[in-house]
Amino acid sequence: MKIISGGFLGIQKCAQILKSGEVLAIPTETVYGLAGVAFDAEAVAKIFAAKDRPSFDPLIVHIPSGWGSLRKLDELGITRSALLSDAAKTIAERLFQNFWPGPLTIILPRGSKIPDLVTSGLETVGVRMPRHALAQDLLRTLQLPLAAPSANRFGRISPTSSAAVSKELGDRVSAVLEGGPCEVGLESTILHVAPDATLTLLRPGEISREQIESLTGQPVALPDSSLKARSSAELAPGMLASHYAPRKGLRLGPLSALAELDLSKRWGLLSFRPSSALSLELRNRASRVESLTTEAEQNQEFWPAAARRLFSALRALDECDEVEAIFAEDPRTLGDASVATGLTSAILDRLTRAAAPRT
Ligand code: TXA
Ligand code: MG
Repeated sequence: MKIISGGFLGIQKCAQILKSGEVLAIPTETVYGLAGVAFDAEAVAKIFAAKDRPSFDPLIVHIPSGWGSLRKLDELGITRSALLSDAAKTIAERLFQNFWPGPLTIILPRGSKIPDLVTSGLETVGVRMPRHALAQDLLRTLQLPLAAPSANRFGRISPTSSAAVSKELGDRVSAVLEGGPCEVGLESTILHVAPDATLTLLRPGEISREQIESLTGQPVALPDSSLKARSSAELAPGMLASHYAPRKGLRLGPLSALAELDLSKRWGLLSFRPSSALSLELRNRASRVESLTTEAEQNQEFWPAAARRLFSALRALDECDEVEAIFAEDPRTLGDASVATGLTSAILDRLTRAAAPRT
């Protein structure tokens, strides 16, 4: 896989690859994505093939800054806001103005230029305006929307560096735009905006449910509590119980549970605290420890730091020969460590899926 660096020539090269109907791995502030022009069904088909992604799992459409209005998105055939009530339109525009560019994907009625393959045949489309500077340079140069799922094989850990993309997709993809390590480290928040202005959180991320509620003055439902299982699957296809999974088995629990585990197995420990905060006994029980925070980050930096390192730490344990199985500390057992943020529930969501039985 070729690495293309940013800068004028690199961005031109990337735009040329995408315009010719090829796919390209790109950085975003959340995770790296595998991009193709969203209006080009053949390019989109190449994304599914490279990831081994089942066609029932729809893709998110990324847009350049400057396209953050329903009028513009309708005009381009990305959305069809005529299907929304005035209240829903007002909410959508508010969300654009406050959270874009940034890690919020908004599910809206789909416009006529978006191929079926992008939305898995749904009548809605997920739209997101990323804030990563190089992603924006590329989108603004292209002036085309990019369909991009996370750049990993289906069901596996999302890549937060170009090296991780290369390990995941290797020679299945010809190039990656180098954008450095991802600033957020976890995928975007996904919010469904229904025609009647009902809001449903389909995936937690940096932008929290509470932030959305306080901006819109509307309650944000969770799919499980608000919908029957069937309609929940229709709203959030692809949100499978087992996802973000390392190859090795992963157990989630309080650190104290590690003391009771079978020691004939070599455990890799994913700890939220630095090693210095762990007892010698615990450290001895693990063949390798990956810490999500440093001593200097036991403050408001705690959750952002943990989110940024989560996927790379899981990947490191998964790749380590001395480790047979992974034990991840349950963030709910951290006590009053730090005030919960949107990232707290996002981290728990990803770890729970990583620990879920594989199908
Ligand atoms: O942060 C992100 O969102 C990253 C970066 C690359 O932008 N992308 C990402 O894409 O996480 P992906 O494909 O790994 O996850 C997209 C998820 C799908 O699994 C599906 O659950 C949801 O978005 N989705 C997409 N379109 C949808 C739609 N029309 N209705 C409901 N859910 C949708
Ligand atoms: Mg993904």
